[in-house]
Amino acid sequence: MSNSYIYSRLYAWFESNKRVLPWRETDDPYCIWLSEIILQQTRVAQGMEYYLRFVARWPRVDDLAAADEAEVLREWQGLGYYSRARNLHKAAQMIIEGRKNKGESWFPCTFAELKALPGVGEYTAGAIASFAYNEPYPAMDGNVYRVVARLFDIDEPFDTTAGKKLFHKQIELLLDRANPRLFNASIMEFGALQCTPVLGDNCGVCPLQGVCLSYEHGTADLLPVRKPRAKVKDRWLTYHVYLCEGDTLIRRREAKDIWYHLYEFPCDEHTGEWPKTKGEKAIELTHVLSHQRLHARFIVHRVKELPAIPETIRVAWPELDDHALSRLTLRALETIIP
Ligand code: ADE
Repeated sequence: MSNSYIYSRLYAWFESNKRVLPWRETDDPYCIWLSEIILQQTRVAQGMEYYLRFVARWPRVDDLAAADEAEVLREWQGLGYYSRARNLHKAAQMIIEGRKNKGESWFPCTFAELKALPGVGEYTAGAIASFAYNEPYPAMDGNVYRVVARLFDIDEPFDTTAGKKLFHKQIELLLDRANPRLFNASIMEFGALQCTPVLGDNCGVCPLQGVCLSYEHGTADLLPVRKPRAKVKDRWLTYHVYLCEGDTLIRRREAKDIWYHLYEFPCDEHTGEWPKTKGEKAIELTHVLSHQRLHARFIVHRVKELPAIPETIRVAWPELDDHALSRLTLRALETIIP
């Protein structure tokens, strides 16, 4: 199968089908980096809103570096995977520090410099290097893994060390070194819109049908293959929502397991299931993270005086929103009436 045939079909498809996305309209590496961090575990529709807000509030990397981490987390609220926001902020400060030696407008521009930033892995470094600088690196996101698995009919799991190696070898052979920016944008978009997880009738109108090995073998619907999922851990939590004269208590999480540095109501964790309560009414929510299923119970205590619980702070109920809250806490707030 010839690469140039694939490029011409893929690029023609991209020209007619691509979405207009703000980070595609710029070659500012700061904006591209920001968009890639936001889009790491987030759908384009949701990420767009956050991207536009971040760029409006912190238009340059100096602005982001000068912000407080708490403000960045607050702006990130609702997106999840908060380590992305913490790393983004830390990286912005590292870039500003680097400017002391490298000049006032320096921004990491080689693959190695980009990959050295916290929160930037192989994929993100390749995406920024190609989109911002047109450097010949692949950017293998989930969409691209799917396209490659199907084009070459690869039934190795793509999320193992050996699988990743194999897929990377394949994309290195396919990469259009003369047009890496266009190639990466096109193949990502092709995976997002045409070579979708559930194919429906897409293969019937696919411009790469003639060279797609999985189409020829009838295996497209079975690909890509993942390794079996790790077991999900169950955790049982009781949150205490104290209410006193319109105020409540919240606490910042310091444990580096989940939601580091986010605020929530004071919480007890139980080793087994929840202990029995004395007839208190509780709001029960199940919250699923990538490797954990949280069974959370929120008990509202209307009290004359707020109890002294270490590390909590007293806040007025309407000011809860000024703090970066965990997604689970936000879900509970939809139901709790102060
Ligand atoms: N997902 C991750 N990066 C993206 C990009 N630059 N464009 C569209 N979707 C993406």
